[in-house]
Amino acid sequence: MSEHIRVLLSEKEVDARIQAIGEQISRDYEGKQVHLVCVLKGGSFFMCELAKRITLPVSLDFMSVSSYGKDTKSSGVVKIVKDLDESIKDKDVLVVEDIVDSGRTLSYLLEMLRDRGPKSLRLCTLLDKPDRRVVDVKVDYTGFEIPDAFVVGYGLDYDQRYRNLPYIGVVEFD
Ligand code: IMP
Ligand code: MG
Repeated sequence: MSEHIRVLLSEKEVDARIQAIGEQISRDYEGKQVHLVCVLKGGSFFMCELAKRITLPVSLDFMSVSSYGKDTKSSGVVKIVKDLDESIKDKDVLVVEDIVDSGRTLSYLLEMLRDRGPKSLRLCTLLDKPDRRVVDVKVDYTGFEIPDAFVVGYGLDYDQRYRNLPYIGVVEFD
């Protein structure tokens, strides 16, 4: 079976939206330092582009998580594969994600980070599939709400491929 990618959001559209979110964040956090926490690997492309468009002092950290087991409909308990390098205590933390789907991963992650005592904790996601939500997650900044389709590009993968596409596409099978 072969597959092809149909463009859902062009490079130009994604860039323009990230610029707008960067400006919004710069206004909302005025006078503060924003500590961006990237969820690897998917969030990395978005985080770099977003960071460049925030006009305030920015620091960065990375973490990597994976769901326990192969079942994607698992309990939502996630394993920390790589933890943050630095403490987030008393920092204004903004978690940067590629996509919120069921919400399981993020809801667990946000609860865990909240326990570490950040001054504030918000969530920014490039994509949101609200129709797929199982666990309620408060998203503070959303790039695009998209329909329930499997998407790739801008950090998102299908079997580890397509992360490098500079646009968001839907995987279609021929
Ligand atoms: P959640 O816990 O169901 O919200 O899972 C979110 C994670 O599933 C994301 O961080 C992605 O790694 C992955 N994911 C969900 N939907 C897609 C998609 O359409 N394409 C690629 N990865 C996805
Ligand atoms: Mg992700």
